[in-house]
Amino acid sequence: MPRWFNTAGPCQADIHYLLPPTLRLPGLERLIAQRNYFVIHAPRQVGKTTAMLALAKQLTDSGKYTAVMLSVEVGAPFSQDIAGAEEAILAAWRRAISIRLPQELQPPAWPSLESGQRIGDALSLWAQASPHPLVIFIDEIDALQDQALISILRQLRDAYPNRPKAFPQSVGLIGLRDVRDYKVAGGGSDRLNTSSPFNIKVRSLTLRNFNAEEVAELYAQHTEDTGQVFTPEATALAFELTQGQPWLVNALAKEIVEELVTDESIAITENHILEAKEILIKRQDTHLDSLAERLRENRVKAIIEPILAGQELPESSNDDRQYLVDLGLLKRDPAGVWSSPIRFIEKFCREFWCKAHRIVYRLSVRVG
Ligand SMILES: Nc1ncnc2c1ncn2[C@@H]1O[C@H](COP(=O)(O)OP(=O)(O)OP(=O)(O)O)[C@@H](O)[C@H]1O
Ligand SMILES: [Mg+2]
Repeated sequence: MPRWFNTAGPCQADIHYLLPPTLRLPGLERLIAQRNYFVIHAPRQVGKTTAMLALAKQLTDSGKYTAVMLSVEVGAPFSQDIAGAEEAILAAWRRAISIRLPQELQPPAWPSLESGQRIGDALSLWAQASPHPLVIFIDEIDALQDQALISILRQLRDAYPNRPKAFPQSVGLIGLRDVRDYKVAGGGSDRLNTSSPFNIKVRSLTLRNFNAEEVAELYAQHTEDTGQVFTPEATALAFELTQGQPWLVNALAKEIVEELVTDESIAITENHILEAKEILIKRQDTHLDSLAERLRENRVKAIIEPILAGQELPESSNDDRQYLVDLGLLKRDPAGVWSSPIRFIEKFCREFWCKAHRIVYRLSVRVG
C-alpha cells in the first residue's frame, strides 16, 4: 500500500511514514510494571497520541495487560457539570474500547451510580472483571477544567490503593501541561497549583522532538518507497528550521512531494524546503492555526515579542514562562539564555504579528 507523510492527527502505520512511535518514551513499561501513575505532557503535535495508542496496543498484544488509550475531550463543555462530563466521557470510552480491544477484553456494562463516582466505579468494575491488569492512558486531560477535572482526579486518587485487582494497575494522564498547571477556577488561583489531587503520580515525563538522524530516517522512508531522494543538505535544513518538531517535519515533506515536486525522479533540495516553508507559513495550516490562537493571548505576546526583537526576556512570572515552554514557543539554553526554539515558528510568529498589526492599522485609518 502506498504511504504518505501525515499532517492530520495521529499516524497510522499502514499508510503513513512513521518513526517507531514509542522510541521517544523509554522506560514507560517499567513504570507500568511497577504499578505507577504518571503524567506525559508535551506541546501540541509532538506525537503523544500516536505514541500512546501504539504503546497500549503493544501492551495488550503482549498478553500481559488490558491496555487502552482513551480521551476525555468530550467532557470539555461540562466543566461545572460532573454528571454531564461523566456521561459524555463514559459513552465515548465505551465506543473507543469496542474498537480498540478484542471481545474477550471488553468491560462489563458501566454502572449507573451517583455522579462524582461513575468513572472510578466503572474502572473498578472493569479491573475486577479483566483477565489481565488494566492499564489506562487518558488523553487530552487538560481539555477538562474546574469541577469535572477535580472530580476525575479525585476518583483516580481515591481508588488508587485498590490497584491492580480492583483498579487500573497504571494510569497515564496525557496532555499539554503538567498536573499542577491544570486550569481550575476559584480558590484564588486559576491553576491547580499543587500536584494534589493527583499527588499519587510518580513521574512527569515529556516527549521530545525528533533529532537530526530521526528526520533523515523519516525522509528516507519516502526514498525507499518511491526512489525520490532528499539531498543530505535538504534534510539538514529541514531539521535546522523545524528543530525536529514532528508536525513541521512532516508538513514540509508533504508539501514538497505532493505539490511542489511530484516527479519522483527529481531530487529534493534545500530550495524546495525553503519554498515549502514559505507556503506553510502563508497558509497557516492546522498546527500553525492553533498556535496562532495562542499568539493572540497577551501573556504570550508580552514575552515573545521582545525576544523576537533581540531583547532580553522581559519581567514575567514563572507560570507565564512555563506556559510558553509548554507551548513550544520558548526555551532556555544551558547558559540560561531564553530564546525562541524553532526558527520556523519564530518566522511564523513575526509574520503573524505583522499581519495582525497591519489589520489594526487599516481599521484605525478607516475609522479616522
Ligand atoms: N512516530 C511518528 N513518526 C512520524 N511522524 C509523527 C510520529 N508521531 C507523530 N508524528 C507527527 O506528528 C503529528 C501529530 O501526531 P499526534 O496527533 O500523535 O500528536 P499529539 O502530540 O497527540 O498532538 P495533539 O497535542 O494536537 O493531540 C502527526 O500528524 C505527524 O505529523
Ligand atoms: Mg493528541
